[in-house]
Amino acid sequence: MPGYELIGAEEQAEVDDIFQHGGVLFRHSFDAIRQNKWKVRDFEKAFANSLGVPHALAVTSGTAALRVALAVLDLQPGDEVITQSFTFVATVEAIIESGATPVCADIDGTLNLDPKALTKMITAKTKAVIAVHMLGTPANLFEIDSICRKNKLTLIEDAAWGCGGSLDSRPLGTWGRMGTFSFDFAKTMTTGEGGMIVFQNETDYKAAAAWHDHGHENNPAVPRWEDTRASSGFNFRMTEMQGAVGLAQLKKLSTVVSAQRKNRDAMWAAIKILPGIVAREVPAGSYETADALVFSVKDNATARQCRDALVAEGLSTKILPEAVTWHFAGTWTHMPELVARHGGDLSKAFLSSSARLECAVSLPVVVKMDEAVPARLHKALSKVLRKQL
Ligand SMILES: Cc1ncc(COP(=O)(O)O)c(C=O)c1O
Repeated sequence: MPGYELIGAEEQAEVDDIFQHGGVLFRHSFDAIRQNKWKVRDFEKAFANSLGVPHALAVTSGTAALRVALAVLDLQPGDEVITQSFTFVATVEAIIESGATPVCADIDGTLNLDPKALTKMITAKTKAVIAVHMLGTPANLFEIDSICRKNKLTLIEDAAWGCGGSLDSRPLGTWGRMGTFSFDFAKTMTTGEGGMIVFQNETDYKAAAAWHDHGHENNPAVPRWEDTRASSGFNFRMTEMQGAVGLAQLKKLSTVVSAQRKNRDAMWAAIKILPGIVAREVPAGSYETADALVFSVKDNATARQCRDALVAEGLSTKILPEAVTWHFAGTWTHMPELVARHGGDLSKAFLSSSARLECAVSLPVVVKMDEAVPARLHKALSKVLRKQL
């Protein structure tokens, strides 16, 4: 969550640097004016280096990152892309925009894609799988990756919440053929709006770079207005101002994640002994971004009472339970493609996911946490959970 908490002089200096050197806000061209300032390019290089991957492409949002990654796969009508039932609408929107059919699979105790449910949803039409690391906790990539390899499916990671996290010491976003990130204002690092795709191979990178830029191949042999092209595309280019902010934010990422983890641990230590509270499952070897602290309670009524008690104490929840309709496919009756693929009735499609989500409570974790917060959490939640005894 807290990229925005640490926005300040460093981001300002990076943006000022553009205006002090010609003020070019476009990521390409204008070489004579820009005095060798290339903020988006530098941000891409720094991001790729930080993850140990050969290529990264900056785009306008995490949603755009998913859309561009899917464009690389050249999906055809009828092709299916599987993701999880608990994610933000953007993951499924991007699949629909790519022309493929979205399929959602149930979640497991990690609240991410359940490998067993994934296996059941694979058909001859399945082309790709998007595993999401919701709220900063890794999906069970050991199993998901091996299922994808066995079935020759492309794995994409939606690491919108996973920036700075890892599994088995491998950064989230680097397990799949491509990984996507969001830098919207609520994410661990932010450029206001923005996103990034990371790639394992140059062919995918080149296809994505062209597609996000109307098909421009940025051929160094010709000026941009005479550029070569092999396919059409769209415009999802990041601006130099976003790139500048991203450069400064990236330098703060490990500090942000460490602080979140420390604060999340202090919050959990204060409430874990409360009756009926059950921790979210976490795959062994996870390094979570700790963007949120998620646990479950007896039932939906109790989860809602927890939220009410927290709000009364001047605290809040995050996504669960109050914003579940934006994050649970079982409620997305406005997406005809999804409804049709799941038998015309979403209310019966994801019963086990629904059972998990309705008992879940998610608490926001921030970097600059007031040290009284853990005790206040304990006080608010005790009122509900001790009564249940
Ligand atoms: C899982 C997930 N994927 C994609 C996105 C889209 O990112 P953006 O808001 O940058 O478009 C979000 C945003 O919250 C998200 O939570």
